[in-house]
Amino acid sequence: MKIAVTAILFASSLASSYTLATEKLAQSSGCMGCHSIERKIVGPGFKEVSQKYQSNKTAASNLINKVKSGGSGVWGPVPMPPNPHVKDEDVKAIVQWILALK
Ligand code: HEC
Repeated sequence: MKIAVTAILFASSLASSYTLATEKLAQSSGCMGCHSIERKIVGPGFKEVSQKYQSNKTAASNLINKVKSGGSGVWGPVPMPPNPHVKDEDVKAIVQWILALK
């Protein structure tokens, strides 16, 4: 019993430090200059993005491509510029983090 409780505590602290690390990654990658978690800045709030794609199974791969190559027209006329400076695995981690926001 004690072991199980410890394991759960350990797993949840791992999960939250992962979340924090990914948020920092989004900051250092320049995403948070145009996005915030809660609300629209230049681009849509990340919680809104997560809600929009809740039941869309191909969202992750579509969004990974969109973040890398940029684009417009989904949230309005303002384009997101391409983000070629961000490593593929970082884009993937950030997109998965966004889609897991509630
Ligand atoms: C210069 C401002 C800017 C920066 C920097 C920026 N974005 Fe965006 N982002 C936008 C805008 C504007 C949109 C809305 C585009 C549209 O309407 O299609 C957007 C849309 C998005 C979407 C939703 C796309 C869709 O098709 O629904 C995601 C996910 C996203 N951005 C993630 C990121 C990530 C991750 C980064 C950092 C690597 C980033 N953005 C950097 C401005 C920016």
